[in-house]
Amino acid sequence: MFENNLKHPVFQLIAKATDETGQSAFVVGGWVRDLILGRASKDIDIVVEGSGIELAGKIALELGQPHKLVVYKNFGTAMLKASGWEIEFVGARKESYRNESRKPIVEDGSFEEDISRRDFTINAMAISLNNKNFGKLIDLYGGMADLEKKVIRTPLEADITYSDDPLRMMRAIRFAAQLNFTIDCESFEAIKRNASRIRIVSIERVMDEFNKIMLSPHAGKGLKMLRSAGLLREFFPELDAMQGVDVVDGKAHKDNFFHTIQVLENLCKNSDNLWLRWAALLHDIGKPRTKQFDSKIGWTFHGHEFVGSKMVPRIFKQLRLPLDDKMKYVQKLVLLHLRPIVLSETVVTDSAVRRLLFEAGDDIDDLMTLCEADITSARQEKVKQYLRNFRLVREKLAEIEEKDKLRNWQPPVSGEDIMETFDLNPCREVGVIKTAIREAILDGIIPNSREEALQFMIEEGKKLGLQPKNNAN
Ligand code: CTP
Repeated sequence: MFENNLKHPVFQLIAKATDETGQSAFVVGGWVRDLILGRASKDIDIVVEGSGIELAGKIALELGQPHKLVVYKNFGTAMLKASGWEIEFVGARKESYRNESRKPIVEDGSFEEDISRRDFTINAMAISLNNKNFGKLIDLYGGMADLEKKVIRTPLEADITYSDDPLRMMRAIRFAAQLNFTIDCESFEAIKRNASRIRIVSIERVMDEFNKIMLSPHAGKGLKMLRSAGLLREFFPELDAMQGVDVVDGKAHKDNFFHTIQVLENLCKNSDNLWLRWAALLHDIGKPRTKQFDSKIGWTFHGHEFVGSKMVPRIFKQLRLPLDDKMKYVQKLVLLHLRPIVLSETVVTDSAVRRLLFEAGDDIDDLMTLCEADITSARQEKVKQYLRNFRLVREKLAEIEEKDKLRNWQPPVSGEDIMETFDLNPCREVGVIKTAIREAILDGIIPNSREEALQFMIEEGKKLGLQPKNNAN
């Protein structure tokens, strides 16, 4: 019995109102699941046998807050916002779906019919809000047992549940990744059979679930499930294509899909930044396109970071992900993901560190976190060695940043300064001098200061046959 968890005045008011009208009302779905899992939730779904809108209207009046009610007549639902909670009222319905679309034909139904059309047993539990059994758990499909067994299972035959709404295939994997559950075997087989039907769902809704998987504590597990269920190839073929190992002359390369998943899993331990996780997912996306076999050195993926970073905008567009700074950030990290590794393998020179700081800007720490996650060798000694070297790179980065302030570098001498000094209109020489100043600072020939840069500008100008206008030397 859960009556102690139903102290919110809305629950009491619903019990009173349904007593008067003879209707039945239940709190259902995610709120009940999360209550049992001990996860607080403020989204409450109430199913009413009868009109959900009418009951919601009554409750809003009783609360003295009719203005807090929003009614969606077309959907037969009403939303009430009360003291930080969002409570949705809906009449019990039976839904039948047309095959070619996911728009249901909705008809009024009983509470049992409503519950049977829900996605998973763990989401198909309800708690009564009726005075005669207020707080009683109604678990028609064994949701409680499945929560204990940590299993995702559909209440009806899985083929029916998934074909009713193919988005549920993504949801099954999302819940498995969020809760660290398994998917019941029969259910997983049904997902495999129905995978191609994910195409009738809009890519925005698919990606909404995908990003929830990406943000979950077990994102790697979710990604592996998406691939083995055959869903990934339907909406993200570039990632699916990473899987597989080729062997030539007995030499195999590592499986890029599983390597990527391992990098993502390593990263998930250190960051919950969605876009950094995306950078991990895409860091080697250029590998299938650059793969070559060389009889002397084996498999190579030369330039995969360039090819990969070029692929990012198209992938983001195709998946309707934001094309703004977030995309540019992912693109930048994909492009630079080998640089700290190269640095750590050689003697670290100040100028290489300066260049990396200059190119990565404020994203340098995220880049280092990504690179640390990218060390996936099975040989522990090798991993330790790399991580030690990365610590040295980080120290060097901090030291040079302290000295030269190159993060988000702004040129100490502007194009206007150059034109003004040499009395020039915009022309090629201005660009040449600007680049020379930047390179001199990055190479450590001059410090990152205005005074030294101005002096250097005069000398570079002279090399191009230019004279400062107010100075005859
Ligand atoms: N539901 C369903 N099929 C869907 C979406 C939702 O059967 N495709 C049902 C489930 O019973 C679910 C409830 O509607 O519990 C509410 O859905 P939603 O708010 O999307 O999900 P929650 O289960 O509340 O989980 P979360 O808030 O984490 O999305």
